[in-house]
Amino acid sequence: MVSRRAALTATGIGLVGVAATAAVSAATADPEPAAAPAFDGAVPFFGEHQAGIVTPAQDRLHFAAFDVITKDRAKLVEMLREWTAAAARMTQGRDAGTLGAVGGQPEAPPDDTGEALGLPPSGLTLTIGFGRSLFRDAAGVDRFGIADRLPAALEALPHFPGDALRPEISDGDLCVQACANDPQVAVHAIRNLARIGFGVVSIRYSQLGFGRTSSTSRTQTTPRNLMGFKDGTRNMKLEDAELLREQLWARAEDGAAWMAGGSYLVTRRIRMTVETWDRTSLTEQEAIFGRDKGEGAPLGKAKEFDEPDFDAKGADGQPMIAKEAHIRLAHPDFNNGAHLLRRGYNFVDGTDGLGRLDAGLFFMAYQRDPRKQFVPVQRSLARADVLNEYIRHVSSGLWACPAGVTGDGDHWGRALF
Ligand code: HEM
Repeated sequence: MVSRRAALTATGIGLVGVAATAAVSAATADPEPAAAPAFDGAVPFFGEHQAGIVTPAQDRLHFAAFDVITKDRAKLVEMLREWTAAAARMTQGRDAGTLGAVGGQPEAPPDDTGEALGLPPSGLTLTIGFGRSLFRDAAGVDRFGIADRLPAALEALPHFPGDALRPEISDGDLCVQACANDPQVAVHAIRNLARIGFGVVSIRYSQLGFGRTSSTSRTQTTPRNLMGFKDGTRNMKLEDAELLREQLWARAEDGAAWMAGGSYLVTRRIRMTVETWDRTSLTEQEAIFGRDKGEGAPLGKAKEFDEPDFDAKGADGQPMIAKEAHIRLAHPDFNNGAHLLRRGYNFVDGTDGLGRLDAGLFFMAYQRDPRKQFVPVQRSLARADVLNEYIRHVSSGLWACPAGVTGDGDHWGRALF
């Protein structure tokens, strides 16, 4: 039998692009299903849970973190009400305002910035999250009378070895994750929320992402991250009803009743030194993840969705999946059963002035309790993952994303305020 490694080399996985991928598929005699055309319809905005979590991951992201710049609780709540109405409209492919993008008063700015006029909804979802600093500022001050509602699960993330976090692109009072299959639609949505929030919030930082790096439904093919590996194979998915109940959605008995039906989001901007990665051998790259690059199968297995065998040894007596392999260190069996729903995106934000791309993964993961899920998994990765030689975490955020808005009259933050 020709080894997969040999097959990859023979079929030119070292080459970039579609041709190489097609060649690999042909070599494994298991063609990947043709990509379905991107969904351009509307995702329902109202529901038990917020859209944009288990919604099959769209291809584009515009994530924004906001600082609240008013001390006036009523103004903040009013803005959240207006944001909700605008979000309900925009996700259905309508303009942000109530008077119409091109209607309204000639002397006043339009109610919508206009750049999404005529575009379909493009699967837009808008998902809101509340940061720890909204409840209590750095000095411990209860800014809006909600300090007693701070969920225990929103405990500040610890420092992890290797963290190189930049405060100006970390944390924040509020966040909105806009995902869509058209980048213009996602950008338009964030821009209009910022416009509506003028005087109440200001954008602290934002992140554009292209190319989802995970699947959140078994109906989706697994995409590749910028290291060229399939990402999202063993993600928690929409179809895993029992697991979602246990590990994705918060419950009233978890401590913060207002978060029942919500979920906690961890965001990490992870810079990849792709130039160094690109000079690393295929064998080393595969050993680092514990999966092969072409098919995405766990080492020692043939198919992407085969279960990894962490006890299997190679001819040299060494584990097929190394002790420090990413998929071993992150696997639930070695992290007290913890799963994550990963929903990250690739980014390339120009260059760093030193002849290198400023590229990486904007990691996003939803879960019921980060103290039991993200924190232990990241601890184990930060301690031993060989991938750390090629990546650096430069931004971090932790967000309480409440349950969905259930209908007219309800609004983002109603249960909290
Ligand atoms: C699995 C890439 C960071 C958690 C994987 C896989 C790849 C990958 C290729 C295998 C396919 C899959 O099952 O999805 C990366 C890259 C990262 C990164 C390139 C950084 C740039 C992280 C971080 C965490 C994480 C920060 C969480 C703290 C996981 C988990 C799995 C996984 C839970 C599935 C493990 C399993 O059950 O088999 N990652 N990852 N990853 N990763 Fe990462």
